[in-house]
Order: sequence, then structure tokens, then C-alpha cells
Amino acid sequence: MNLFTKYSRISNILEGDLEHLSGSYVPDSFPHRETEIDHIVRVLSSILRHTRPSNILIYGKTGTGKTSTTHYVTKMLSEASSDGVKVCYVNCQVYDSPYSILITIVNTLSESESDMIPPLGWPLDRIYSELISRINRRKGFYLLVLDEVDKLIEKNGGDSLYVILKVLDDSTVSRTSLIGITNDAGFLDGLEPRVRSRMNQESVLFTPYNASDLRDIISFRLNGVVKKNTVTESAVNLCAAIGAQEHGDARKALDLMRIAIEIALREGREQITDEEIYQARDKFEMDVVKEAIKTLPLQSKIVMLSSVVTQELNSKLMVTGEIFANYRNICAELGFMPLTSRRVSDILSELEDFGLLSATTKSMGRYGRTRFISVMGQLDLFKKYILEDENLSMFRGSKVTRQSRFENVVDSRKQENGNLEKRLSEIADSEIQKD
Ligand SMILES: Nc1ncnc2c1ncn2[C@@H]1O[C@H](COP(=O)(O)OP(=O)(O)O)[C@@H](O)[C@H]1O
Ligand SMILES: [Mg+2]
Repeated sequence: MNLFTKYSRISNILEGDLEHLSGSYVPDSFPHRETEIDHIVRVLSSILRHTRPSNILIYGKTGTGKTSTTHYVTKMLSEASSDGVKVCYVNCQVYDSPYSILITIVNTLSESESDMIPPLGWPLDRIYSELISRINRRKGFYLLVLDEVDKLIEKNGGDSLYVILKVLDDSTVSRTSLIGITNDAGFLDGLEPRVRSRMNQESVLFTPYNASDLRDIISFRLNGVVKKNTVTESAVNLCAAIGAQEHGDARKALDLMRIAIEIALREGREQITDEEIYQARDKFEMDVVKEAIKTLPLQSKIVMLSSVVTQELNSKLMVTGEIFANYRNICAELGFMPLTSRRVSDILSELEDFGLLSATTKSMGRYGRTRFISVMGQLDLFKKYILEDENLSMFRGSKVTRQSRFENVVDSRKQENGNLEKRLSEIADSEIQKD
């Protein structure tokens, strides 16, 4: 039999484009967001009456539909207004300085290719005056959308937003407004009052979806993509329940459904049931981990590798010193210059921030505090992903050692609970003497 036959059957599942479930596809309706959409539309509708709309701040957790409803509403607005509204959408995670944002805005106002200004080389005041003159030359309204606007403030401080708001105000004709989108409205607290009040003249909160909202959203989005009855009701409910657990995240729920459908297609299955959703969830989580590991700097990968092999040799609890000792062993084996223990300790904290490691600090009485570390996930998979780095592919673990201190910990865990504290103190003690 030809090896491809199994995969080439025309799908019994799909009737439309699976891409329609992806994050970048903007649907033509948003169940359970009617109120929020109406609020935004009411504010922006003053454009149709030729008056400047208030600035709007849209806030709510990730996956609650902020970005896609904004795209949807502003597109409708452009269609509805006779003299053309220019909408400029900027994601501040990508364009993260006031400089690059201003250039992007100027360039959306270019009439031709030759109008475009280069990404580097113009001084800020020249960009500024060019922008104001371009805005003033235009007849229609100008709407600036700053998505993930908290990232802008985080990296550049509140002044950056002030600069941008000032551009909007300095254009004499006053036909510009700002929509800010954020999943962390806390950034407002750090702003000067004058910037803050300008920023949220109107604010619209996107509340988290509950499981029943998500069920409607998933069913709606499946329409036209899959044939009737190919996704079981129970699978939709499960997907919705998982999304609801993650702070009502529609993106996560839709991603899971899409991956589950891909699994069913690949395996030639006829239906999407709970099983496919569970498989999708495992794959999703693994993909996130894989991506996180792949993008680590080399030294962080070595520290991670040391954590994995140290834990492989033993059980749960590791102390920094043990990971550091094996880190040095690995560097020696592969011919890398090791970092200082202080740097390794910083890297361990970063890995903890990424959720790859977990650490608990215990007080060791007169010895101060000691950090105990463990790897969060399947060791063999972690190791496989790390060793995909060609700089590390020669790793054999020939110098990795199991340290005697560690057995103290393991032994102590086998003993009565009461002894644990004391044993840990001894271990901390031996660490200190070694230093
Ligand atoms: N009410 C809804 N109806 C249909 N799809 C939705 C709804 N809310 C969110 N989505 C979809 O969920 C995904 C995440 O939404 P998004 O707008 O990116 O969220 P946010 O910007 O708040 O993080 C997108 O694919 C979006 O189309
Ligand atoms: Mg968004």
C-alpha cells in the first residue's frame, strides 16, 4: 500500500477553511461582546457627526476579544464614514519605542512609496513636525490604536505616551483620537494624572468569558469550518471548560479546538471527541515548553540541562550548589567557559520566571535561607529539546556526578518528617563550609 494513502482521503470532517479558527482571522460577529462593541461604537460614532470622539481605553485579560473586536469595529467605521477614517493599528510589543511608533504613524499617512520615511536616521523633532503637517493636510479623521500599550510604558516610561498624545493634540484640526488596549490596566497608576485622564476618557472593560460563553463562541466559530455533528457536544464543552479555567481565554479554547481537529485529520478519525481535546491540550503544553527552551540563550540551556540531569540522578529537591557543580561538569565536558555561581543563580531565577523550574525558599535557622529547586515537567522531553541545540549535541553526561550531600536530602525525606528541618540545616552547613 502506498504510504500516503492513509493521509490522502478527502476529509470527512472539514467543510471550510481551518484557518478561520486561527487568532488572526476576524469573524463577522462576536457573541457575548454585544454590550462592549456597542459602547465602542457609540463613542466612535461622533466621527460620523464630524466631532472628535473621546479617547478609549479597552482593558481585560488575554483572549477576551479586545484586539479582534477593535479590528472589527474600526473596519466597520471606515466603511460607514463618507470622508474616510484613517485607522492606524500599532502593536506596542512589536513597535516598542515612541520613535518607531511615530515613524509607523507617519508612514500610514504616506500617499505614495516615495513619501515613506526610513526606519532610522530622522531626528525625533523632524518626525514630529512631519507627522503634524501630514495629519493637518488630511481631511478625514485619524484613529490611532495602540495595542498592548502597557508594554510601551513598561519599556519607555510614561513620557512616551505623553509624546504621542501631544501629537494628537498639536494637530490643529483636532481630528485624531486614540484607542489604547491593554491586559494590564495597572499601568495607568504609574502615569501622570494629565496623561492618565487623557488616556481613558472612556474605558471599556472586557470581562472574562465563562464556560457557557465559550461554548457559544466555539460553536459559532466552528460553523462553516467543520461538517455538522463531527465535533461532539461533549468535546465543545470540554474545550470551553479548559478555556474558562484559564481566565476565560477564547484564544486558548479556539487553539485547542483547532489542534484537536488537526489531530483528527492526521489520524484519519471521523469525529472530534474528548480524547482529541485532551491530546490537543498535551500537545499545546508541550509546544509551549519546546518553544520556551528553544529560545533560551546557550548558557541558560546548559543550566537547564544541569538541572535536568541532576534531578534525573536523584529525586525532587535540589539545592543551587548541586546544580552549579553539575553545570561546571557539563561545561568541562563540552569545553565551555563556566559562568560564576552568582550568574548561574540569576539564570536559575530567570528559568523560574519562565515556569521551567520551580523554587521554594526554606529558612534554615541560623544558616539563613536556602533555595530548593525542581524541574517542572517531563525530564526526558526537556533533555531532548535542550540537546536539539547543536552546541550541546555532543553531551554524554560523562562528568555529571551525584553528590553525597544530595543523598542526605533523599534520606531525610524517607525519614520521619520531624527530622527534615535538621537534615536540611546540615546540608546548608556543608554548603557554607565548602564556600
Ligand atoms: N466573542 C467572540 N466571538 C468569537 N470569537 C472570539 C470572541 N472573543 C474572542 N474571540 C476570538 O478569540 C481569539 C482571541 O481574541 P483576541 O481579540 O486576540 O483577544 P485579546 O486581544 O483580548 O487577547 C481571536 O481568535 C478572536 O477572534
Ligand atoms: Mg490582543
